[in-house]
Amino acid sequence: MNNINKRLAIHTADMAVLYIKLHNFHWHVKGLQFKLIHELTEGYYEEMAEAYDAVAERMLQLGEQAPASMKEFLELSNIKEEYTKNFTPADVLEKVISDFEYLVKELQITRTEAADANDSTTDSILTGIIENLEKQIWILKYTNA
Ligand SMILES: [Fe+2]
Repeated sequence: MNNINKRLAIHTADMAVLYIKLHNFHWHVKGLQFKLIHELTEGYYEEMAEAYDAVAERMLQLGEQAPASMKEFLELSNIKEEYTKNFTPADVLEKVISDFEYLVKELQITRTEAADANDSTTDSILTGIIENLEKQIWILKYTNA
């Protein structure tokens, strides 16, 4: 597997783990802004599901197989799972900002490699995900200000 595909496998795993983690926040946040965070995280886990599906399907188009089990996701992912179940709205905002910033940084490295390899489709898929994450980071930071 070439380096771009190895990185796409990690992105798939990261976003799959984050998909589950966002449900934890969605279910267990408590406080006056419960509804806001509950709805925000629901939007995010739906976007995460679409994003990791697109990245995994790109691996298939490139002739590889994608990670597709919880075991593989946990082995490959650098996103730390949450084992606690008690979050204030501010906790959730901070944790999601930090994971989204990590994702942007990692996706950007792969996107640059794809652009250098003249792989415009991978570049475009990753660009779309990065574009949305950067917008959400801005929204989360302004919400948390
Ligand atoms: Fe729900």
